Amino acid sequence: MKIYRNISALITPIGKSALRGTAMRRNVMTVRNACMIVDDRGTIIDAGSEKEIGGRTFEEEIDCKGLLALPGFVDSHTHAVFMGERSSEFCMRAEGKSYQEIAAMGGGIRSSVEHVRNSSATEIADYSQKFVRNALSLGTTTMEIKSGYGLSAESEIALLEAAKRVGELTGMEVLRTWLGAHAVPAGKKQSLYVQELVSEQLPEVIGRHAAEFCDVFCDEGYFTNDEAEEICVAARAAGLKIKLHADELADTSGAALAVKLGSYSADHLLKISDAGILALAGSDRTVATLLPITALCIRSAYAPARKMIESGCAVAVATDCNPGSSMSENMQLAISLAVIGMGMSPEEALSAATLNGAAAVDRASTHGSIEKGKRADFALYDIPSLSYLPYHIGVSDIAAVVKNGRIVSGIL
Ligand code: NIG
Ligand code: FE
Repeated sequence: MKIYRNISALITPIGKSALRGTAMRRNVMTVRNACMIVDDRGTIIDAGSEKEIGGRTFEEEIDCKGLLALPGFVDSHTHAVFMGERSSEFCMRAEGKSYQEIAAMGGGIRSSVEHVRNSSATEIADYSQKFVRNALSLGTTTMEIKSGYGLSAESEIALLEAAKRVGELTGMEVLRTWLGAHAVPAGKKQSLYVQELVSEQLPEVIGRHAAEFCDVFCDEGYFTNDEAEEICVAARAAGLKIKLHADELADTSGAALAVKLGSYSADHLLKISDAGILALAGSDRTVATLLPITALCIRSAYAPARKMIESGCAVAVATDCNPGSSMSENMQLAISLAVIGMGMSPEEALSAATLNGAAAVDRASTHGSIEKGKRADFALYDIPSLSYLPYHIGVSDIAAVVKNGRIVSGIL
């Protein structure tokens, strides 16, 4: 048993399920002069004020030097295993070309597929681990990683194996999502590829226990709602949980489809309609996962976060880390943009990046807040208040990151 002492303030959302609407702000608790007791398995035994719970000695006592503690971020939407880079597309967008125009010119997802296709899982993991290590050093302790740059059974499995491997190499807790339905591979008929997804890729993913979730890029120019439903129904029947890329490039009623399918999240939602917001607000499962770095990088308006929160949705914020539309693994930047670009309060943004992110990957009962019984996943910041985090844009004030009770990045 060990104790982390001398925490100037411990700030955390409270709960074992997603926070909705006003609770995203209301259920954030601050304890000053705090400490945290952690057992040998990395579970929080107690967290609270030194005065109330810190009055005895422990085998190991760690001085947090007056730093401020926040829960580790749960980055619930990333494509963080890939090969190559697409900075030329980034420059083309700066010159005014749209994400879709660049894809039509042979860029986009298919160009990353060309980089991945001839790489082994080991090569992909070796290349990608630096992004995951960066994320850990920036305060993310749990990360969802999608496949989706292979688009064949063999290559999708290689990506999912690479995702597992980067977790082992870095100490990041990685949750895996099969996104074979990210794009149709060049030269293949869309309907035949959907059949291949269901009858070839899915059984391979299940047989190898390679993923926990299935995601589909359900959007204009990618997969239709009917195709998304067919793939997700088959994946659910085979034992996978569902997530959905929805209403990013156009409003196709993807959010409502996500709710209908029992999806853990509907992600992007840049073009969501009022009916979509209503559907999400009425769901007791589907989290609205917003990806403000992507909106910034594809030069789109941000998702209507305020309207969603005021309607009672559970909103999460994630990076969408990928080589095309969001080349960033920095959850602190996503939080800054959530506040600056989407008008969320620092408390709402914190709930969105931690507990609601955990709910979006079915981990809200064990992850996403600093509470008795949860994983001891947190970071210690040299900042005076929560609002200083989004305010100090693009710079990390983290001194140390703790995963399962052990320091995995930085020093104290
Ligand atoms: O989430 N929207 C779909 N997929 C990614 C982009 C992937 C890419 O361009 O490589 C996203 O933004
Ligand atoms: Fe994505």
